Amino acid sequence: MSFPLKKSLFAILASCVLLLAACGTNKEDAGNKENGTEAKKVLNVGTEATFAPFEFMDKGEITGFDIDLLSAAAEEAGYELKIENTGWDAMLAGLQGKQLDIGMSGITIKEDRLKTYDFSVPYFESTSMIAFNKDVKINSAEDLKGKKIGVQNGTTGQYSAEDIVGKNSSDISKYETAALMFQALQSKNVDAVVTDIAVALEYVKNNPDNGVQTVGDKQFDAEYYGFAFQKGSELTDEFDTALNKLFENGKYEEIYKKWFNEEPNLKSLQE
Ligand code: ARG
Repeated sequence: MSFPLKKSLFAILASCVLLLAACGTNKEDAGNKENGTEAKKVLNVGTEATFAPFEFMDKGEITGFDIDLLSAAAEEAGYELKIENTGWDAMLAGLQGKQLDIGMSGITIKEDRLKTYDFSVPYFESTSMIAFNKDVKINSAEDLKGKKIGVQNGTTGQYSAEDIVGKNSSDISKYETAALMFQALQSKNVDAVVTDIAVALEYVKNNPDNGVQTVGDKQFDAEYYGFAFQKGSELTDEFDTALNKLFENGKYEEIYKKWFNEEPNLKSLQE
């Protein structure tokens, strides 16, 4: 092969490489926003999946209201989700340590949590509820005094119980997951648990023979769930835009009805 030919071959090859590289970058750019077949950016999501109907395991798959809603929002915003059942503490630590992009766990938006994480717009209204074994007498939150109480560690159920019986009360047992807390109730290691209203009601619905009853109390404040993001993350705005779209286009309502069999009260979320 003569030298000039070699040179032009090299030039052709080089431009092919450049062209391919250029195609590659274009593809990635488009992939973030378009809903075609292009690869979308994958976001890592952590959850504590023993919290039906929001997130729970069904035949080995993580499912629930939160999963449907966050998936619809991700679709709208042009992202793919990789959801992992990390557990509650690891989810929060993973967000703080920036290994996770989103925390999805029926997480209540709270003043002190806002110092560490960003939150989406509120997507669900909740409050604490007491679930108790029917052989103990509990008619109101005040009746928790002197009872053995189970809570999921680091959740608003714990704080609601502490408001009644005191922060360092030895009557409060803290469990790592909502499932362990309900197990303690079932095996009568505790008289009552304090958890989120929809979760308490779902437990009773799914375990009608366990002799568990529920009671609420006006002392328990209204709470609002949000998806949690790393502090300062640009994803927060992108997911807010997506969620607001789902509130408007009927998709939120559809998902809500699927899990709760009733119409959502969108006004109370947007107040
Ligand atoms: N809403 C309560 C809180 O944020 C409880 C959430 C617990 N979530 C769960 N997936 N176990 O403190």
